[in-house]
Amino acid sequence: MPYPRQRPRRLRRTETWRRMVRETRLSPDDLVYPLFVVHGEGVRSQVPTMPGVFQLSIDLLVEEAAEAYELGIPAVILFGIPEHKDAQGSEGYSADGVVPRAARALKRAVPDLQVWADVCLCEYTDHGHCGLLTESGEVDNDSTLPLLARAAVVYAQAGSDVVAPSDMMDGRVGAVRRALDEHQLDQVPIVSYAAKYASAFYGPFRDAAHSTPAFGDRRAYQMDPANAIEALREVALDVDEGADIVMVKPAGPYLDVVRRVRETVTVPVAAYQVSGEYSLIKAAGANGWVDERRVALESLVGIRRAGADIIVTYFAKDAARWLAEG
Ligand code: PBG
Repeated sequence: MPYPRQRPRRLRRTETWRRMVRETRLSPDDLVYPLFVVHGEGVRSQVPTMPGVFQLSIDLLVEEAAEAYELGIPAVILFGIPEHKDAQGSEGYSADGVVPRAARALKRAVPDLQVWADVCLCEYTDHGHCGLLTESGEVDNDSTLPLLARAAVVYAQAGSDVVAPSDMMDGRVGAVRRALDEHQLDQVPIVSYAAKYASAFYGPFRDAAHSTPAFGDRRAYQMDPANAIEALREVALDVDEGADIVMVKPAGPYLDVVRRVRETVTVPVAAYQVSGEYSLIKAAGANGWVDERRVALESLVGIRRAGADIIVTYFAKDAARWLAEG
């Protein structure tokens, strides 16, 4: 019968106490800011389903990234929107593609800002799937691997500090690691989207990246939202194949997975607060139904508390500003 000897409220009474006993801290150091890059100049086109998120041409992308860096955010992750899409997703692994161009420009303008390059074909294929299709319309694992590896090499050669395969093909981390090593890119880490779920929370992103599958869905390669043990198997395989950091995605609805992964691996764990998580908070905030700032920060602290070392979030710049304001 601890009460009245024990009174947990004693350590909550003042902000000074709360500051001293706080278990989880959120800092701009933990955040990665996603950016959508398009061809052209002077383009800043609002993504309708993601207020505050824009498709940017490289000139404006550099400004946006520099602002993020000024706010203390150490890294951005790039998603490219190509000029032309085709069945093979060719712009995805062309040295002249929009992502390598952006990486070169960013490294020139803001050398200390880390550039992460998402590696996937879905933004580049006309069918919108993450790999090559067989005649029967299945996504073919093994013929896709060399293309992903090529994309990773091209992005790294353009100066990307990190490559982040998000396609969910089996064996892609190993294929990417071997290709990087063969090209003297052994110092480029791989952040693998190891536990990536077939989630409805990606809806707004597919608007932003024009990557909605033309037919079917991604359930034959992304994970079933009902599974958590399988996530442990996915991360174990990726670490074995050479992943330096493993990512869980989405974040908020999968905090149990973040926690279990954190307790299982010894590499850093990242979590991706995806477009739908962002847009839900934005929409409710805009309606006056919730306090956007407090809900956003609470969602980020929750992801950290679950065990994520790094959070990819569209709120990165806002969060950095809010944290600076205290
Ligand atoms: C590409 C990719 C997706 C996201 C990140 N990389 C979309 C998808 O798998 O359809 C989603 C990010 C988000 O929703 O914010 N493979």
